[in-house]
Amino acid sequence: MSKVSLICFILLGLVLLSQASSSDEKIGFYELKKGNFKLNITNYGATIISVMLPDKHGNVADVVLGFDNIEAYKNDTVYFGALIGRVANRIGGAQFTLDGKTYKLPSNDGKNTLHGGPRGFSDVIWTVKTHKEDNHITFTYDSSDNEEGFPGKLSVAVTYMIIGGNKLGVKMEAVPIDKATPVNLAQHSYWNLGGHDSGNILSHTIKLHASNITPTDKDLIPTGEIKSVKGTPYDFLEPRVIGDRINENFVGYDINYVLDKGSSEHFRKVATVEHRNSGRKMELWTNQPGVQFYTSTSLKDTKGKGGVTYKRYAALCLETQGFPDSVNHDNFPSQIVRPGEKYKHYMVYRFTAT
Ligand SMILES: *[C@@H]1O[C@H](CO)[C@@H](O)[C@H](O)[C@H]1NC(C)=O
Ligand SMILES: *[C@@H]1O[C@H](CO)[C@@H](O)[C@H](O)[C@H]1NC(C)=O
Repeated sequence: MSKVSLICFILLGLVLLSQASSSDEKIGFYELKKGNFKLNITNYGATIISVMLPDKHGNVADVVLGFDNIEAYKNDTVYFGALIGRVANRIGGAQFTLDGKTYKLPSNDGKNTLHGGPRGFSDVIWTVKTHKEDNHITFTYDSSDNEEGFPGKLSVAVTYMIIGGNKLGVKMEAVPIDKATPVNLAQHSYWNLGGHDSGNILSHTIKLHASNITPTDKDLIPTGEIKSVKGTPYDFLEPRVIGDRINENFVGYDINYVLDKGSSEHFRKVATVEHRNSGRKMELWTNQPGVQFYTSTSLKDTKGKGGVTYKRYAALCLETQGFPDSVNHDNFPSQIVRPGEKYKHYMVYRFTAT
């Protein structure tokens, strides 16, 4: 063997080795179930694939949008059911400055960075740490230094758990290993309480426990203002039909609400969503300061589960989170987590049908 071919051989070996180690983790599907409340979850993006939920007559339907196969999830641009990170939502101008150093990130939404970048946590394979079918599943992911441009190593753990009746808990935690970094994880399920194949959510009612929003520019980057919803189509302080104020001048909702402080110091009520025909109701609580309310305005003929075509308004998202672009707004609650500290984000969903 010549020297040149020997070197080529060694290089090829190294390439194969590195590929083997990066694809160590297998993509799998995992069930959580209690009675006829069932979830199908994959470690690809720690993604919720389906949520089977009974209506007031006991008929079960899948109430989240999704795809039929993992190839479609890999190709996905709408984040169906995914776990988003390292920093969910938008970072304006794809950069921020932390401790005097400016970090430039890859942009994937015009000139901004959306949902952690082109290959965020929604596009990586997570390790299944523990799984108990009638109880919980925990995924972990070790994000490397400079992954998608973010500083330092970050150790992340996400647990989906069935608590009591038809309650779903989501626990997202992250620990920076060596450097301070922004962290803002989010769960991005698309809900339609009539069933994922039932059309649109315009007739659902929603109550949002939020008196203010963070207005944005045309690229959905916050201006920094915190503005009252009073007298605007954003006011859902009393339950309203979602489609009531959607028209040719106002195409839908894609905005961060500032959650009102409730009686509990740690948990805030986010929303109550109801679908009259099925009687299904979803309530949500979190320890986060904000929630992105999104009415899937940009969905357009997306081929989903069972050959169903999802159109505009096919679902709604309630992404509890820190405020978008917090890294560039000193007046927003900080998303910076330092070594020795722990990022903690909790959600509790309660589902009923009457
Ligand atoms: C979960 O979803 C995957 C992908 O659609 C599917 O192959 C698998 O059979 C599902 N598992 C269960 C238990 O429904
Ligand atoms: C991938 O996405 C593109 C554009 O959204 C679409 O045309 C194509 O059919 C998708 N491929 C798969 C395998 O889903």
